[in-house]
Amino acid sequence: MTADASAPTLWWERPDLCYRGGDLHLAGVNLARAAWAAGTPSYFYSGERVRANLARVRAALDSTGLRTSVRYAMKANRCAPLLTWMKMSGLCGIDACSPEELRLAVSCGFSEGQVSYTATSVSDADLDALARHPDTWINADSLSMIRRLGERCPGRAIGIRVNPALGVGYGTNELLRYSGDRVSKFGIYRDQFDEALRLAKAHGLRVEGIHFHVGCGYLTDQLPAWRAVLDECLWFLGRLDNPRIVNIGGGLGVPHVATDQPLDLTRWAGAIRDAFHDRGVEVWVEPGDYIVKDAGVLVLQVNTVERKRNTLFYGVDGGFNLAIEPAFYKLPCEPVPARLARADAWTAGPRPKATIAGNINEALDLWAEDVAIPEMAEGDLLVLLNAGGYAASMASNHCMRGRSTETLLLP
Ligand SMILES: Cc1ncc(COP(=O)(O)O)c(C=O)c1O
Repeated sequence: MTADASAPTLWWERPDLCYRGGDLHLAGVNLARAAWAAGTPSYFYSGERVRANLARVRAALDSTGLRTSVRYAMKANRCAPLLTWMKMSGLCGIDACSPEELRLAVSCGFSEGQVSYTATSVSDADLDALARHPDTWINADSLSMIRRLGERCPGRAIGIRVNPALGVGYGTNELLRYSGDRVSKFGIYRDQFDEALRLAKAHGLRVEGIHFHVGCGYLTDQLPAWRAVLDECLWFLGRLDNPRIVNIGGGLGVPHVATDQPLDLTRWAGAIRDAFHDRGVEVWVEPGDYIVKDAGVLVLQVNTVERKRNTLFYGVDGGFNLAIEPAFYKLPCEPVPARLARADAWTAGPRPKATIAGNINEALDLWAEDVAIPEMAEGDLLVLLNAGGYAASMASNHCMRGRSTETLLLP
C-alpha cells in the first residue's frame, strides 16, 4: 500500500492517483466513498489530469516554434461537463466525426471554427449538416466525399485525409493501425491523390490542408516508425498549391502495463519540428486517448467470488460493453481494489491469481485473466484504470446492462 502520495510504489500510481490509508484516491477523492454515493458502475474523470495532459501536449508543441493547434478528438470521451471544462481551459479545440458530435461540441461552448470534422463513409445528410457549419474545417477522406461536398459547398477550403500506407499503434497490435499493409477505408492513397485534387478543383473546393491519422496508442518505441509516416506525408503536402494546414491526427498513447514507457513528448515534438519547420504550415494535432484515458476510472462492485476448477473468478456488476477496448482490441486492462483489506496487500506474499468476469452473457466478457491482485470479497469495489478514453463513449446497452454514471471531479 502507498500511504504517502509522494512515494508511489505501483507502476500506475502518481500523486493524483494512489492509495492513501488503504483507499484509492483520484484527484483527492476517495473512490470507494464516491462510488458508494453514485452507485456502480460509475466512471470518474479527473478534470485536473485532463487539463495537465492537454497542457503537456501544448507545451511540447510550443517548443517546436511552429504555429500549432490541438483539436481534442471527442470520440474518446464526450462527457459534456468534461468538454465544457476543456473549452474553459482554452487549451484546445475539437475534432468531431459526426454531425451529432459537432452539435454537442458547439453546445458545450466551442465555436464552429474551433471544431474540425474528420469522418468516414459520410452520408448526404451528414454533408447537408456540414454545409450549415461553414466555419468548421472539414477533412474529406474519399473521392466520393470530395465530389458530394463540392456540390454543396463550392469555394470552401478543405483538407484531404490521406493514407500513407504506413501505420503505427500500440506496440505490435495490428488492430489499432489505421493504415499499413492491409488496405484500409481511411483516407486517399498516393495513387488517387492527383485525381482527388482534380476533382476538388472541378467542384470549386480549395484544398489547403492534408490530414492523416495512422493508428492509436503509439509510445516512444514507435516514434521512428511514426517519423517515417511524417516523411511519407510530405509527398502529399508537396502536391498542394497552397498548403496551410497539416493535421497529424491523434494516436498518442499512454502506458497500459508496467513495462510500457510513457511517450517522450520532447522527441515527438522534435520529429514534428524536423518534418515541418520549412513548410510554412500550421500543424494541427488530434489527440483523444492521451488527453483523457489516464484521467478516468470505472468503478464496479464485486458480486461473486468463486473458484471454478483451477480458476478463481471475481464476478463484477459491469461488463465489456462499458469499456470494450480490452475485449475488442485486446488491450491490457488494469483492475485494482478500491480499498485494500490490509496495508501490505500489494506487497505481501504471493497473491492468488484471479480472473475478473463481467456480467454479460458473452464468453469474451472477461476484464482480465490470471491477474495477481490483492484478495477481494463479495461487496468490495473494483477499479478499472485507464477508463477515461473509449470507455463510456463506446458503451452499449448490450443485455440491457448499459446503465452507469459519469462524474467529473474538479479541483
Ligand atoms: C481521425 C481521428 N483523429 C483522431 C483520433 C484520436 O485518436 P487517439 O484517441 O488514439 O488519439 C481518431 C481515433 O480513432 C481518429 O479517427
